[in-house]
Amino acid sequence: MKQLIMKWFDLLNLPEEWKEEIERASESFDPTPLDGMKDPYLYLNEGEDKMPCLLYSLYKCEDFYNTAKKRDIPDDILLASLSELKRYALEYNKITNGEKLGLKQINWLGKILCGNIYRLGRLEFEIRGSLKSSEKHGVNAGDPVIAVHIPNNGGPFTEEACKEAYKLCEEFFPKYFPEYQYEYYTCNSWLLDPTLKNFLKPESNIYKFAATFEVTEGRESTDALTYLFGRGTELKDLDTLTPETSLQKHVVEHLKNGGKLYSSFGLKKK
Ligand SMILES: CC(C)(COP(=O)(O)OP(=O)(O)OC[C@H]1O[C@@H](n2cnc3c(N)ncnc32)[C@H](O)[C@@H]1OP(=O)(O)O)[C@@H](O)C(=O)NCCC(=O)NCCS
Repeated sequence: MKQLIMKWFDLLNLPEEWKEEIERASESFDPTPLDGMKDPYLYLNEGEDKMPCLLYSLYKCEDFYNTAKKRDIPDDILLASLSELKRYALEYNKITNGEKLGLKQINWLGKILCGNIYRLGRLEFEIRGSLKSSEKHGVNAGDPVIAVHIPNNGGPFTEEACKEAYKLCEEFFPKYFPEYQYEYYTCNSWLLDPTLKNFLKPESNIYKFAATFEVTEGRESTDALTYLFGRGTELKDLDTLTPETSLQKHVVEHLKNGGKLYSSFGLKKK
């Protein structure tokens, strides 16, 4: 157990100064009860202590890797897909002022570790049933699609970088998941909120990315605050924020004036 956890600790390049503490914690960590659960990630998510989330994620990297290797998926894609683990662990350590090791985004990581999400260039692509239906596109909720996710890292979010990522995706799925047939990409995000068009220049990256999707529905949401100002930012914090970028300024002004924002669902033909 400890050996497996430390193997992935090294492969994912987690900070050396964490090593001793992770080694110690992994000595008494038993994943057997978690492996027996229907949704161990949901269970872990509810726990106060976030160290088991990190230990279980590191332990499950081995299964993820071995399963993916049966499909001959190259190591660089697998390591890139798992890099979220390090990002979340660093983020957790940061929000606890360097005092705690663990991670919080275990539900998301669970999807990656189950082999449903792959990082290809600037974007992440998820095998999943469509969240929504669209009569116009002939898509029913649950139909197989590829959901597109936008990590906050990995270089500029340019039109070219996105095009390259779709190109990689259209090589990846037919090659490694030939049985998975999909017609549409979907995206469910604050980035697709049509309101943002009023705030962004047409040459901006978000504007161009959003324009490649046809938005079919949206729900009121303040996700934009999370992504623009950090996790945990809410409407009640509007007066304390110090907007710096043009989008932050527009969004704060819009919300202060009683405007609404949305998380929007869109489709894009393969
Ligand atoms: C997606 C992302 C890379 C786009 O950033 P970008 O490439 O700078 O986007 P744009 O070119 O459209 O930016 C236009 C303006 O908005 C600002 N902006 C964009 N995203 C921002 C963010 N997350 N925080 C603060 N400002 C942001 C830019 O700095 C720029 O401001 P400026 O005019 O003052 O220079 C960035 O928003 C990000 O990292 N988001 C986190 C991940 C995410 O939102 N994923 C989707 C989850 S559903």
